[in-house]
Amino acid sequence: MARLLWLFSALVVLLSVGAGTASPHTDVKKRDDNLPARVPYVFPEPGTDPIADHIRERRTNGTLLDLDGALLNAPLIAQAWDQFFGVIRDNNTLPPTMRELFILRVGTLNNAAYEWLQHESPGRSAGLTTEQLLVIRLAPPFLTGMNVTDIMGPDLTAALLYADWMTKSVHVPDEVFNGLRQFLNDTQMVEATATAGGYNLVSRFVEALNVDGKMDVQVPVPT
Ligand SMILES: *[C@@H]1O[C@H](CO)[C@@H](O)[C@H](O)[C@H]1NC(C)=O
Ligand SMILES: *[C@@H]1O[C@H](CO)[C@@H](O)[C@H](O)[C@H]1NC(C)=O
Ligand SMILES: *[C@@H]1O[C@H](CO)[C@@H](O)[C@H](O)[C@H]1NC(C)=O
Ligand SMILES: *[C@@H]1O[C@H](CO)[C@@H](O)[C@H](O)[C@H]1NC(C)=O
Repeated sequence: MARLLWLFSALVVLLSVGAGTASPHTDVKKRDDNLPARVPYVFPEPGTDPIADHIRERRTNGTLLDLDGALLNAPLIAQAWDQFFGVIRDNNTLPPTMRELFILRVGTLNNAAYEWLQHESPGRSAGLTTEQLLVIRLAPPFLTGMNVTDIMGPDLTAALLYADWMTKSVHVPDEVFNGLRQFLNDTQMVEATATAGGYNLVSRFVEALNVDGKMDVQVPVPT
């Protein structure tokens, strides 16, 4: 435990030095900086576009995100995305901490600062502690032998490994699947897999289109 904390403190120092120079825009409370993407943002006025209005219904404050503005260049993609990620977010039976762990871990592994910035606050609201967020942000992929379990608990450790294998290897070994299956039923295994897989799509989408100018921004280290 002490050794693990030491390792993380060292990483925090290293990364915060890097973050200080590389990323001026890491205010976690603010949802978007409205920096340009590689496509123009399409933000229809309220009441003029049913697809955009439906997306507004599930956004905080009814405000479209830069992600939505990028998606709305292709309205049917935006509509299908809204439906799919609405279900992933609001209609699954995973423990909320585990759902947010999948999202944040995939965001970290893919260096998708936009995804992390949108989800650090929901992750905390779901119940992830700062110490757990530090593990999600900093633990190297496939970490098994060390005492991550002390901080994450056995179920979130199994979820962390599942996200790592799905994201970094694609091929998921039986023991990694079965490790998570101990804590989830078949419905939830499908939900977990769709969540980790879905947010791999999100992170690749926001990175490739440089949504909110975040493609070169480092994922912030939680404090
Ligand atoms: C909600 O909308 C108000 C008014 O536009 C804005 O000042 C506030 O920052 C918004 N809150 C969030 C969480 O986006
Ligand atoms: C999905 O979740 C939302 C928000 O909790 C709820 O209003 C809606 O009824 C749910 N939809 C289904 C099909 O369960
Ligand atoms: C993990 O923790 C146990 C006891 O809590 C300790 O004996 C062991 O050395 C630790 N392993 C690592 C790699 O730190
Ligand atoms: C799995 O567990 C969830 C949450 O308890 C429950 O809603 C769902 O119906 C279960 N699915 C199966 C196949 O038992």
